[in-house]
Amino acid sequence: MSAQPIARVEALYKSFRGPSRGIGRGRAELRAVDGVTLDVMPGETLGLVGESGCGKSTLGRLFLRLHEPTSGRIYFEGRDITELSQSQLRPYRRKMQIIFQDPYSSLNPRMTVRAALAEALRVHGMVSSASDEQERVAALLERVGLRPEHMRRYPHEFSGGQRQRIGIARALAVSPRFIVADEPVSALDVSIRAQIVNLLSDLQEELGLSYLFIAHDLHVVEHVSRRVAVMYLGRVVERATSQQIYEDPRHPYTRALLSAAPVPDPDAHKRRLILEGDVPSPLNPPRGCPFHPRCPIAEKGLCDREVPALRVLESGHEAACHLA
Ligand SMILES: Nc1ncnc2c1ncn2[C@@H]1O[C@H](COP(=O)(O)OP(=O)(O)O)[C@@H](O)[C@H]1O
Ligand SMILES: [Mg+2]
Repeated sequence: MSAQPIARVEALYKSFRGPSRGIGRGRAELRAVDGVTLDVMPGETLGLVGESGCGKSTLGRLFLRLHEPTSGRIYFEGRDITELSQSQLRPYRRKMQIIFQDPYSSLNPRMTVRAALAEALRVHGMVSSASDEQERVAALLERVGLRPEHMRRYPHEFSGGQRQRIGIARALAVSPRFIVADEPVSALDVSIRAQIVNLLSDLQEELGLSYLFIAHDLHVVEHVSRRVAVMYLGRVVERATSQQIYEDPRHPYTRALLSAAPVPDPDAHKRRLILEGDVPSPLNPPRGCPFHPRCPIAEKGLCDREVPALRVLESGHEAACHLA
């Protein structure tokens, strides 16, 4: 594995305009991504987990310049792409793709699968003739475990798992190097999640892809990611190898996420830690450690006052907790 990340964000912030605060009082600032530095190495899957609303999708889209950052830098294959114009971004667009939770919402219901995949190929000038196009579409469908004759069908004629395969085929159409998989199995039946996860792993091996794999459930990324980053209210609060995260989680938020997920572990109840309440609004984040109002070990005078920085606990393991 080379030392240079394929994709990197550095000190990245993204604010959205929040709802109006009333006449003449302007709009609140909603900080969805709050100072994140993160690398994805070539050929790896980096897992990104956290509850809904923590900023995972926003961060994933920032990696691909599908959002404009408020500040910070974005690199792809070592090049700073933060300020490239849309036309300068074109050669990069092909190399970085996204897979969505619900491919149905991103597939045009009136377009056949062939038309949808051909569109992706044509945008990047990757087909020379109609027969070439047909061959490429057929090959893409076979690569994701569908049949070539499926190209004549419409999205509604497929099951959820098959539609996700079409979403994957469309991302693969342009031969990307890096894919943001934004909760690719969250909407699927538990029984077919493993098939899609295995397909993504097989494709990674075959094609040398790198993934940012987003999930709200830590157990989904356990088997596919060598490294995991846990996000809370726009920040990375723990980052480590998968083994470190699952065997020795250090941030109370990570521990709570692990014990909240259903695991077939007879001892699980002993260390069960219930996550109460919801993620606070990024419009009005808590002072100090953003997790302290929900944290079972928070200390008054410390956690409610000082923001903990992400610090190295041991080789490859970082957490942002005063008490870790
Ligand atoms: N386009 C947008 N405009 C305003 N607020 C947004 C927008 N996209 C996301 N947000 C807000 O940013 C926060 C993070 O959202 P998101 O990145 O979708 O989180 P996640 O993917 O972890 O569920 C949420 O509070 C969400 O409401
Ligand atoms: Mg999301």
